[in-house]
Amino acid sequence: MGTTTNPFGADGWTPERIGSLDDHVYVITGANSGTGFQATRVLLAKGAQVVMLNRNQSKSDAALGELRAEFGADAKVSFIQMDLAVLDSVRSAAATVLEELPRIDALICNAAISQTATRNLTVDGFESQLGVNHMGHFVLCGLLYERVEASSGRVVTVGSKAYDMGKKKIHFDDLNFDADYSPWHAYNQSKLAQMMFGYELQRRLEAAGKNAMSQVCHPGASRTNLISGDVSLLNKVMIRLMKPFFQSAERGSWPELLCATEAEVKSETLYGPTKRSDTAGPVGENKLAAHAIDREAAAKLWAVSEELTGLTWSP
Ligand SMILES: NC(=O)c1ccc[n+]([C@@H]2O[C@H](COP(=O)([O-])OP(=O)(O)OC[C@H]3O[C@@H](n4cnc5c(N)ncnc54)[C@H](OP(=O)(O)O)[C@@H]3O)[C@@H](O)[C@H]2O)c1
Repeated sequence: MGTTTNPFGADGWTPERIGSLDDHVYVITGANSGTGFQATRVLLAKGAQVVMLNRNQSKSDAALGELRAEFGADAKVSFIQMDLAVLDSVRSAAATVLEELPRIDALICNAAISQTATRNLTVDGFESQLGVNHMGHFVLCGLLYERVEASSGRVVTVGSKAYDMGKKKIHFDDLNFDADYSPWHAYNQSKLAQMMFGYELQRRLEAAGKNAMSQVCHPGASRTNLISGDVSLLNKVMIRLMKPFFQSAERGSWPELLCATEAEVKSETLYGPTKRSDTAGPVGENKLAAHAIDREAAAKLWAVSEELTGLTWSP
């Protein structure tokens, strides 16, 4: 449930609060559809440069075509191919970003897969949802972090209320669900891992007195392409029935835009819609469950992520 008073007023946070973003540079993952695409539209409309890190060339070409049709042929938007399920691809995309972008005002970790029907391992050996949603972003953030910090920028983690459903813990003894794979539990774990990482990064930045920031949000229930692809028929049917009641993908992009641009943001806060059990409505602060800010589990997750990805980093 949302808090009773919204710090951004009764209508909540909206992109109207964003001023000119001329000279600002945003890097966003999974921006060819859904909330990432809509966030890109808003950032471009405010004058920013946006670099999309997407996995699919033809979908990205189509997205670029749509964005250029709306914002002009010289719109400051580009695309770098990156598959979060392949750490070599993440490393190569990060190297290109560092070559091409002298600053990063926010790195928005938006991409995800959800409720993969069959248990798959990424090429690096992670259960696919943990691998794409958490491990891939952990490496990307580690490789781009110094550029974000040098820009007094932000890392934005797009989580999900799924962090507070199911078992509500990281399965350190069976991270990859070798036993008892459940598409839902694996998604919940991956989103909890992302959010724990976002808050741990925030604590480390604050402890180190850095100018950079880490913020965490979720989009509510939004009409996007999330539950598609390798998802059970039952899940697909359920989502199709529920979609008419979801909010638009555009509104779903507002929490990540808030986290990327708003001056009045706080620590240990979850930003998202505040009505209908935080699935829709005015964007503000949501109640944050204690397990998302469990310091011991977050420190352990960071150490395990470093060990398993082979990338050691910290602010
Ligand atoms: N929609 C909701 O109701 C909802 C609720 C809670 C949380 N969320 C979160 O919101 C965020 C945005 O999702 P969405 O709802 O906008 O879904 P979406 O329309 O499916 O967008 C997800 C994006 O992630 C990309 N992606 C998937 N796997 C990738 C990989 N291996 N490497 C790089 N990119 C990859 C997708 O690319 P392709 O087009 O190539 O698949 C797509 O661009 C996610 O973090 C999701 O967990 C959404």
